Amino acid sequence: MPMELPFAESYRIKMVEPIYLSTRKEREEWIKATNYNLFGLRSEQVYIDLLTDSGTGAMSDRQWAALMMGDESYAGAKSFYNLQEAVHRILGFPFTLPTHQGRAAENVLFSRLIREGDIIPGNSHFDTTKGHIEYRKATAIDCTIDEAFNTESVHPFKGNVDINKLEAVFKKYPKEKIPFIIVTITNNTAGGQPVSLQNLKEVSALAKKYDIPVVFDSARFAENAYFIKTREVGYADKTIKEIVREMFQYADIMTMSSKKDGIVNMGGFIGFKNEELYKSCWVYNIMFEGYVTYGGMSGRDMNALAVGLDEATEFEYLNTRILQVKYLFDKLTSHGIPCQQPAGGHAIFVDAGKMLPHVPREQFVAQTLGVELYLEAGVRGVEIGALLADRDPITRENRYPKLELLRLAIPRRTYTNNHMDVVAAALINIFERRDSIRTGYRIVEEAPIMRHFTLKLEPVK
Ligand code: F0G
Repeated sequence: MPMELPFAESYRIKMVEPIYLSTRKEREEWIKATNYNLFGLRSEQVYIDLLTDSGTGAMSDRQWAALMMGDESYAGAKSFYNLQEAVHRILGFPFTLPTHQGRAAENVLFSRLIREGDIIPGNSHFDTTKGHIEYRKATAIDCTIDEAFNTESVHPFKGNVDINKLEAVFKKYPKEKIPFIIVTITNNTAGGQPVSLQNLKEVSALAKKYDIPVVFDSARFAENAYFIKTREVGYADKTIKEIVREMFQYADIMTMSSKKDGIVNMGGFIGFKNEELYKSCWVYNIMFEGYVTYGGMSGRDMNALAVGLDEATEFEYLNTRILQVKYLFDKLTSHGIPCQQPAGGHAIFVDAGKMLPHVPREQFVAQTLGVELYLEAGVRGVEIGALLADRDPITRENRYPKLELLRLAIPRRTYTNNHMDVVAAALINIFERRDSIRTGYRIVEEAPIMRHFTLKLEPVK
């Protein structure tokens, strides 16, 4: 019998960037000097950086070539029209406003749409999305399905919106108070979990019934389409581009952080189907971002983004990416390491609460695991737990979320599976000695809001 050919990446490497594996002693000094805050490390002090998949991917030769062709005109740049054409053709939105990143798109759109006292239902709104809602004294209501909060339950579309929860919100508040519903594809906060086409269809039908516009937070839309192709009945034979077009039929507006599935280092945009609404956002774009044909992006970056949108919606690219995430996931879970099930699109979410059961939640379990992983192998993840959840704005008590997670986000086209092997081995070592890890950290200093970026910690002895 001839051997079946193993899977391999759908690209080869043309440019490399050296990384440095430090000693444990060096890492102990460095992490102490940052007061045990992983954000405080210099990137040279990190061997494998899984802090985020945002803006950390590798661009292709085609993208670098497009960069050289950037048109840097203040108004009417050719690069803007390239981007607009790509957004129209691939995503189906005829009108595009570029912004410098995803949260800037939120800022512009929400300035136009949200008023004090409004209600914005959605599926686990991303932090900046929630931040921009709450900053306007409006309320985000999470309508994600319950399965998302049980890391052990296996559901192919754990990012889905619970239609009953959504309808309850539509019934409870008058239509005038709900400027839109926002659906995040994939659902980052719930573990990079996808939303099914069936669910998008149902959300859209319900929203139509109540006459409420639908916004997609589309940062990882291509990964979402990959999961629809590989998990949802009836989509196996469709191309990613066909699925993407079908998904966006159900949205009126999209916001985008291009740093994810645009495969660029910086950028964002808003896509509109309604010309009037698009034009009514111009004033905010001009005030906060830049003129409507560049919005904070250089021409070269818009060019690279136009190509990135095309590449991100190719099956071979997505298959390489998602199989790498799954490769790490399988290594971890086959050793019994508790992770959000099933593997998501852009990251592994280790259930730190289950992995380190002896560390009290008041001592920040996921952060404790994050520091351990850094010390073990120079791998940097990010805490999604009580530090990120911050304090209650009224009582100032610490908020303890349902899950203490350590997110290991995999940058696009950046690391090889050898790097994934290092990450797995490091976590397995920690798992093996988990019973000896009994204490975590206490806060020494923190900012009044968004504390996780800058806070100082010390080990509890
Ligand atoms: N929406 C989602 C779903 C995101 O994941 C992010 C960013 C944003 C919006 C904001 O976009 O960073 O371009 O301003 N997520 C990054 C992350 C930061 O690490 O998950 P941005």
